[in-house]
Amino acid sequence: MAMTVAIPREIFEGERRVAATPESVAHLLKLGYVVEVQAGAGESASFSDEAYRAAGACIVEDALELWSSADIVLKVRPPSLDEAQRLKPGATLIGFIWPAQQDALLDALAARGATVLAVDCVPRISRAQKLDALSSMANMAGYRAVIEAAQYFGRVFTGQITAAGKMPPAKVLVIGAGVAGLAAIGAARGLGAIVRAFDTRPEVGQQIESMGAEFLTVELEEEGGGAGGYAKQMSAKFIEAEMALFKVQAAEVDIIVTTALIPGKPAPRLIDAQTVACLRAGSVIVDLAAEQGGNCELTRAGEVVRAHGVTIVGFTDLPSRMANQSSLLYATNLRHLLTDLTVNKDGELKIDMDDVVQRGATVMLKGELCWPAPPVQMPAPVAAQAGASRPAPSSLPANDSAGEPSTSAGRRGMGGLVALVCIAVLLLALGAIAPPAFVAHFTVFVLAVFVGYQVVWNVTPSLHTPLMSVTNAISGIIVIGALLHPVGHNALVSVLAGVALVVATINIAGGFLVTQRMLKMFQRT
Ligand code: NAI
Repeated sequence: MAMTVAIPREIFEGERRVAATPESVAHLLKLGYVVEVQAGAGESASFSDEAYRAAGACIVEDALELWSSADIVLKVRPPSLDEAQRLKPGATLIGFIWPAQQDALLDALAARGATVLAVDCVPRISRAQKLDALSSMANMAGYRAVIEAAQYFGRVFTGQITAAGKMPPAKVLVIGAGVAGLAAIGAARGLGAIVRAFDTRPEVGQQIESMGAEFLTVELEEEGGGAGGYAKQMSAKFIEAEMALFKVQAAEVDIIVTTALIPGKPAPRLIDAQTVACLRAGSVIVDLAAEQGGNCELTRAGEVVRAHGVTIVGFTDLPSRMANQSSLLYATNLRHLLTDLTVNKDGELKIDMDDVVQRGATVMLKGELCWPAPPVQMPAPVAAQAGASRPAPSSLPANDSAGEPSTSAGRRGMGGLVALVCIAVLLLALGAIAPPAFVAHFTVFVLAVFVGYQVVWNVTPSLHTPLMSVTNAISGIIVIGALLHPVGHNALVSVLAGVALVVATINIAGGFLVTQRMLKMFQRT
């Protein structure tokens, strides 16, 4: 029988997001689920009950009834203890859980025999990008940080010369160019500000510059990239050097958006009271790391404070302040997760514990705590892979075929060698009996298959885009080969040439479409 998916109204104070939208409800129905939405669940995010009903959901007035009858509950914030106790025994809960800080909640869920999937535990590997709610929300937070700054900044962002006087453009400094930082750069540039950005990972320099911002650096050389493209904790000397840079910058900029964070660590303290005092009166600091202790010494989480004439914004609910857009993104992340969990589209949720993404997200299975999941092998930073400054740690393979230790890559290499030797022997045997022209073509074909296989399996995710160009070029050669083939010569060969033509054309057109979409992401309208 089809399982019931419930979407309750978020009860955390000030939370406006909702875990499903009418659009995502339609997708959940296609997966075979019955969907129930609590009355008013989407109201603060501008999704009416009528819209959910029109999408095919049942509207349930009573929260208790909704929680206690659902097989799967989709949430944004972790449930309260009361909510957890309402969960139907053996039901599945999906949402942000933050298991490291939720002992009491996990105990309550274990008592219900619950299965819990935490979107904050989805490993950040390229295959799981469509489920990456952390990135979706950080993107919203970065954008909103600039909007909040504009709200408290008493001047314009874009420079203008008018009859009444000259208005200089605002200068914005973004510290930390992860997902949130890059979104902040995009938003500030979009509003016409001059943007500078700093990050400890040199590899993000190009991304910063491609978005029209200036990449600031310090004299001191220290590799900031760590495992999985994330940052590592910097030495005290480096932090000192960057703090000195921010102090100099404070005399010039009007707005600082700070997002610096190392996963699992308290936020680095980068802006002290002296630096705040260097900012002009009327300047704004938006500290996205407020919840983790703040990058600015004077930040207070969840509050707006004023010091030395500077406004310091420490909101911790920035995505919720963009409730409609954030809900659309979050609901899409969840429906992708449910699609992966419902392989047969039969309204039956099945967790594959051998899949690193599903394993990573599973915090509890039928009341048994299974968090933390074994660490996922993440791709090493591009700079490190290229051997630019420092080799990647030996435990990090240069791909994200997660869960495969580096020895298996070695084994695969050996396997490849054995296969190559076997193929060579076969070719030699074939060469003895087949006509020379056939052997020449056949050798090229076999080598192309072998090289193609090795390239596709061993290439790092960060090189997938250039790889796509290469495959486009290969497909182009196939098209030319198929077109040059004389029609009517041999029916079977003609059919094969026709099939090759169609498949290669699809590959080329698809490649161009994807490239076009990616380029659009960097184009300013
Ligand atoms: P991320 O991990 O993608 O980016 C953090 C960036 O900080 C990385 O690029 C890293 O290299 C950089 N960094 C680390 N140490 C640094 C240092 N000492 N100096 C300069 N840069 C440094 O994280 P993401 O997803 O972009 O999130 C950024 C922050 O925003 C986090 O603190 C996150 O918790 C917060 N956030 C806040 C929200 C809110 O409502 N206030 C909502 C969502 C995220």
